[in-house]
Order: sequence, then structure tokens, then C-alpha cells
Amino acid sequence: MLKLYFNNMHKIIMNTMKVACFGDVCGEVGRNVLIEYLNTNKHLFDFIIVNGENSAHGFGITQKIYDQFMEAGVDVVTLGNHSFDQKSDLQLFDRNPNLVRPLNYPKGTTGHGYTIVNRNGLNIMVINLIGRLFMEYNDDPFYTINEFLNINKMGLKVDAIFIDFHAEASSEKLSMAHYLDGRISGLFGTHTHVPTADAQILDNGTGFISDCGMCGDYNSIIGMDIKSPILRFTSKINAYAKFTPATNKDSACVCGVVFEINRNGRCINISTIRYGGTYLKEQKQF
Ligand SMILES: [Fe+2]
Ligand SMILES: [Fe+2]
Repeated sequence: MLKLYFNNMHKIIMNTMKVACFGDVCGEVGRNVLIEYLNTNKHLFDFIIVNGENSAHGFGITQKIYDQFMEAGVDVVTLGNHSFDQKSDLQLFDRNPNLVRPLNYPKGTTGHGYTIVNRNGLNIMVINLIGRLFMEYNDDPFYTINEFLNINKMGLKVDAIFIDFHAEASSEKLSMAHYLDGRISGLFGTHTHVPTADAQILDNGTGFISDCGMCGDYNSIIGMDIKSPILRFTSKINAYAKFTPATNKDSACVCGVVFEINRNGRCINISTIRYGGTYLKEQKQF
């Protein structure tokens, strides 16, 4: 009873909460630049979500890397089409409650598609969804999330809901955000590794950005060393063009988005993060 009292007191005192979401962490350079950023800035945020699908040398994630993220202050790690690229430890996804793979993977897939974390007396739900347009075939994300949110309504057992929609097409991401407007606190896109400039709050209080970008070396082709992708386009001999993450820490950058939400789970402010490397150099004022 006493615990409940203090939890509710906190809800009354704490009127807003800042939730930072960071896009696909690409390889060692991406991990290092994100951890460097969090070491000095994590106190600015109440809750931190990171997409880790490319964190293990561009492909998947390991227990060691997940633990590194947690030690750096991350609360939830989301994934995407590279979720299971590190095949040696598939128990990883059942073992770690705050490691979340897409909810609309086939029934019976290892791991789970959402988690709920209590922070400062508020229950925050984080869901990972994957798109279908220009992607491998997956279960319908619209049908899946509609059914899921009919059972898990914001304002009942959970106070705020965030979705990492891992998808290629901005049209699919925008459609999903408008489809869910008012039912979730925020939807951030991942997967393209390119930060977009369309952060906005929709009519019914859902914050949205098409893609929050990548944490990694931006002197690259979406985080990979530039030679192999060009070779694939020009020669089509993929065997000679293995993708490896770009490794220049001087052009490494952290990209993310910050949703500020009120105690009803509605987004009241949205802003983007650009830290270090290429983007810092290019962002001069006219
Ligand atoms: Fe990615
Ligand atoms: Fe992806």
C-alpha cells in the first residue's frame, strides 16, 4: 500500500517524461559513439530505447553487447530484420526481457515483441514492429498491432507506449503513425539508417519521425564500408562484396529522437539528436 502511495505521488509530482530513442547502432564505431554520448548525456533522459539490430559487426546482437548497452544506461533494446543474424545464441531473446524483436514475426518465433518497464512509477511499454513494403514477408503489422492494442490500451495497465517501426518505406511508417494516432505515445522509424527531418506531433497526441537515423560512421553507405555496396550495384557478384561496417570514428555520429510526454502518455514535444562526426560538421547556420 505504501509503495502504491509513493508511486502515485511520483505521478503527481512528475508531470512530464523525456524518452530518447536511438536508431540502428552499426558495429563497434556505432557502439562506441553512442556509449560516449550516453556517458555525458544520459542524465537528460528518463528512459532510453536503442535499436541494436546491427550492433554486432553490422549483423545482429550478442549478450555481451546487450550488457554493454544496459551498463551505459539503456532501458530497452529493439531489433529488426537482422534480429537473428548471430545464430550461435538464440536463447538470448528469451533470456533478456528488455531485448525486443518484431511483434509481427510468426507465432512461435523465439523471443518477444514487447516489454513493459516501470520507471518512476509509470509503466512504459515498448513494442517492435517490422514493415512489409520492400521488406521480406512478415505478418501484417497493421492487423497485429490493432489486435494487440485493443487488449493493451494506453491508460489502463500501461501509462505510455512507444513503437520502433522497423521499415523501409516512409509511406508505410506514416500510415502506421496516423493509424495509431492517439493510441500510442510515440512511433519512431528505424532501418533506413538515414535520419529524416519530419519529426512531428500528430492531431491526437502521438509523436512521430519516419526514421531517427543510425549511430555509426556516416562516411559510408548506411554504415557499411563504401566499396562493397558499390561493387554489388556495379558487378552483381555479391560473393566478392561482403558488407563490413565502416570504421572511421571521426565521422561517427549519434542520431536519435526525444519524445517528451505528459502523464497521460501524450507527446507534448519532439526533438532530434545529432551528435558528433559528419552531421555536426555539416550543421552550420546560414
Ligand atoms: Fe539497420
Ligand atoms: Fe534493418
